[in-house]
Amino acid sequence: MVACHTFAFIWGLIAEPREPGHCGHTRIAISTASQFCRSIRLRRLEIRDLRFNAFSTFSQLGRGSKVSGKMSEVLRTTWVKLQALIALIGFAAITPLLILVAVLSRLIAKLCCCSAPKCIEGEVAVVTGAGHGLGRAISLELARKGCHIAVVDINVSGAESTVKQIQDIYGVRAKAYKANVTSHSELVELNTKVVADLGPVTVLVNNAGVMLHRNMINPDPADVQLMIDVNLTSHFWTKLVFLPKMKVLRRGFIVTISSLAGVVPLPYSTGYTATKAGTLAHMRALRMEMALENQKDIHVTTVLPTFLRTNSEITQLTDSMGINDLYPLVTGEEAAHRIVAGMLRGEAEITLPGLASLLYRLIHIFPADWQDRMILLLSSSRFKQLRDERS
Ligand SMILES: NC(=O)c1ccc[n+]([C@@H]2O[C@H](COP(=O)([O-])OP(=O)(O)OC[C@H]3O[C@@H](n4cnc5c(N)ncnc54)[C@H](O)[C@@H]3O)[C@@H](O)[C@H]2O)c1
Repeated sequence: MVACHTFAFIWGLIAEPREPGHCGHTRIAISTASQFCRSIRLRRLEIRDLRFNAFSTFSQLGRGSKVSGKMSEVLRTTWVKLQALIALIGFAAITPLLILVAVLSRLIAKLCCCSAPKCIEGEVAVVTGAGHGLGRAISLELARKGCHIAVVDINVSGAESTVKQIQDIYGVRAKAYKANVTSHSELVELNTKVVADLGPVTVLVNNAGVMLHRNMINPDPADVQLMIDVNLTSHFWTKLVFLPKMKVLRRGFIVTISSLAGVVPLPYSTGYTATKAGTLAHMRALRMEMALENQKDIHVTTVLPTFLRTNSEITQLTDSMGINDLYPLVTGEEAAHRIVAGMLRGEAEITLPGLASLLYRLIHIFPADWQDRMILLLSSSRFKQLRDERS
């Protein structure tokens, strides 16, 4: 007890109350030991009270947290439901607006673009597979717009025939070049020659393509490989060869002839279908790359034609499938006119005929298995007949 008093005295001298609720130890020190002891007791009580209070508060809180836990769970569930409801209402409300914005922006873009198609007079175009069919028609259309044409084909006599037609009608320069688009080195060589003969290339038309249907059930592996090389791989090589200069000049057009088969698959034409879907995806990615690189004057246009009246094999195929009875096939000249007009307006994708664009977009709303059924519903008998003929 003495020790306690002494300690209290000394501690009372050195310790000062610092905050409310702190035991006034100075005061305590100069008072009696009993006061000190009381103070200690009180403090103990205070602490016990505090502990008790804290305990009760915590237990209350604990009880409360259990209650609030239950409450928050209910609240959370309600909140999630409410959010979902808000999202649903928002989505329902915004959908017509989105459609309206999409339609309006497309209309505005079309009107603005229509008013200002780009001029390509004096530019140099490379058209692959230009010795026949659509390539030839596109070459003639570009020449009509004042473009100088490098007519590229593996079939050199076809290319020369195209050049002759261009020179007979239009006063532009045109030259035939023999090159295989599946060979990167041949394309590098081609670029050197074209630049020396005509100037730097600012228009590239990836038109060369093959559709090989010798055996529909068991296609020859060489045929499949050739379709991949000509229809898909070659576009990587032409891009590597011709795009760098366009980037330096900060202008250019890349037109790629894909096919509607790239979005509406053709059974027993998996090789062709896959290559055309690949070119579509390739050009979409390239368009985004140009936007990311701020190359807004390099336009990438992909063309998705249905069957065209461009070569005898296609005419024979469409005849045997009875497609000619369904709708009149677009000619190469009609297609070329639409393609070059769209290219000059910087259109991203062109579907031929235009109505096919609406149809394939509508079909794409449905689940994949429904889409398959819808396509087969329209054409299964035709595909079966074709398979039986060519297997
Ligand atoms: N004709 C159609 O119904 C149709 C439909 C959709 C898409 N397409 C696509 O349109 C493009 C042109 O079709 P088309 O009907 O005018 O074809 P086409 O067969 O009449 O002409 C293709 C030309 O490409 C050339 N060619 C082929 N392989 C080549 C190579 N490795 N290197 C260089 N030239 C090569 C050929 O010699 C030919 O002159 C193709 O890409 C084709 O897939 C055609």
